[in-house]
Amino acid sequence: MSKVTFYGHSCVGIESQAHKLIIDPFITGNELSPIKPDDVEAKFILITHGHGDHVGDGVAIAKKNNATVIANFELANLCAGEGCNIHPMHIGGAHNFDFGRVKMTMALHGGGYGEDASRYTGPATGFLITIDGKTIYHPGDTGLFLDMKLIGEMNQIDLAFLPIGDNFTMGIDDAVKAVEFLSPSIVVPMHYDTFPVIAQDPTEFASKVSGAKVVILKPGDSIDL
Ligand code: NI
Ligand code: MN
Repeated sequence: MSKVTFYGHSCVGIESQAHKLIIDPFITGNELSPIKPDDVEAKFILITHGHGDHVGDGVAIAKKNNATVIANFELANLCAGEGCNIHPMHIGGAHNFDFGRVKMTMALHGGGYGEDASRYTGPATGFLITIDGKTIYHPGDTGLFLDMKLIGEMNQIDLAFLPIGDNFTMGIDDAVKAVEFLSPSIVVPMHYDTFPVIAQDPTEFASKVSGAKVVILKPGDSIDL
């Protein structure tokens, strides 16, 4: 069994019996975050793309925990340059780690690190993570894309996080369509309310979804998978 915790925005922690992972640890500067970077214990830091609200405190957390950063080749190497241990991957590739399997998926979004996002970090990505027999899909920042249908056909997704904030990613109606394509058992909305421009009502998303259980997690809330 794994415990999956939402820390606000796109930050998700996964704890299995033996392993701790964190995805997109944007904590400093996220007023909705219920934790501090020093609270995080994780051996693997998965980062979907180079934007500041996803890399977040990843480099500092990786170094403090002697953890491994899993990211696309370009972003992973940027993190290596900052002193992190890395495991680079790229879109379409999967790898078996100690904790389980990670497949890197495409995302319709940009990449770039730094104040002005000018340092090249390759394309944006998502992750399919299989751990303790359950598959979790974290798509990162993305617009709706038809290949989500293929991802849903080829994987039995137990839990999917989907951005609903609009402006930078899918909004509610496109995320509802994504649920149809992915057919996960459980879906959790993310990437909303952190900033005024991505304010959304997650209950509207919940009311529009059919065929999956929508669970709205407040930052700090968990699901036992
Ligand atoms: Ni982004
Ligand atoms: Mn973002």
